[in-house]
Amino acid sequence: MTELDRYRAKRRKAVAIPDKGGYDINSGQMNPEIYRKFAGLIAGTRLRSVYEPFAGSDGSSFQHFDAVGVSLYAHSLVCNHPRLVEADSTTTIPDYDYLFSGVMFHPPYFGSALLSDDDREISLISDEDEWVLEIEGVAAICMDIMLRDGFVCAVGRRYRHGGKEIKLDEWLATKIFHGMKVHEVWTSIPDIAIIMKFEE
Ligand SMILES: C[S@@+](CC[C@H](N)C(=O)[O-])C[C@H]1O[C@@H](n2cnc3c(N)ncnc32)[C@H](O)[C@@H]1O
Repeated sequence: MTELDRYRAKRRKAVAIPDKGGYDINSGQMNPEIYRKFAGLIAGTRLRSVYEPFAGSDGSSFQHFDAVGVSLYAHSLVCNHPRLVEADSTTTIPDYDYLFSGVMFHPPYFGSALLSDDDREISLISDEDEWVLEIEGVAAICMDIMLRDGFVCAVGRRYRHGGKEIKLDEWLATKIFHGMKVHEVWTSIPDIAIIMKFEE
């Protein structure tokens, strides 16, 4: 069975996440219930710490991790929340004393509506190969700073761009977190959250 077959099998058994609203689906925000569920999973780990390389500018994810005693370290290009760290995640390694037991990874989409007008904004990149390299680079940093028994929550949608369907979920599940395997899949249309673990 290929990794893709394995992912598709897990996706068919995906856990449905309720949608209680309170987010802007068109500005790159995901259903916040995914944050809540991931925070609950990480609350049961040893270090209870999460890194989020692509947090939105409002820092709204802190509330979900705070609620269950998980510490969140989050980068954003534009920071409208005092605990966000202003940084370009393609070039900055989190400045943190511990390893992380979780990574929340919802990357900027290729060809999406602009998410910010910062020069370092990945959704500004017009060359797909360059976009792939940037996201892969951030995934590699994330794996370096994670505990071996930690979890990644990679979130991606399927969407159309330039006349073709981009299956971001399948790419995230099989191509960039080398040495990790899909553990579970959660869905809240159009968001697909892929929970990954290092292979034993
Ligand atoms: C798909 S959104 C995810 C927002 C939020 N985490 C959520 O899921 O609701 C991706 C975010 O990554 C930010 N971003 C783009 N390039 C970045 C970079 N080089 N470093 C850090 N953040 C970046 C975008 O501005 C955007 O806020």
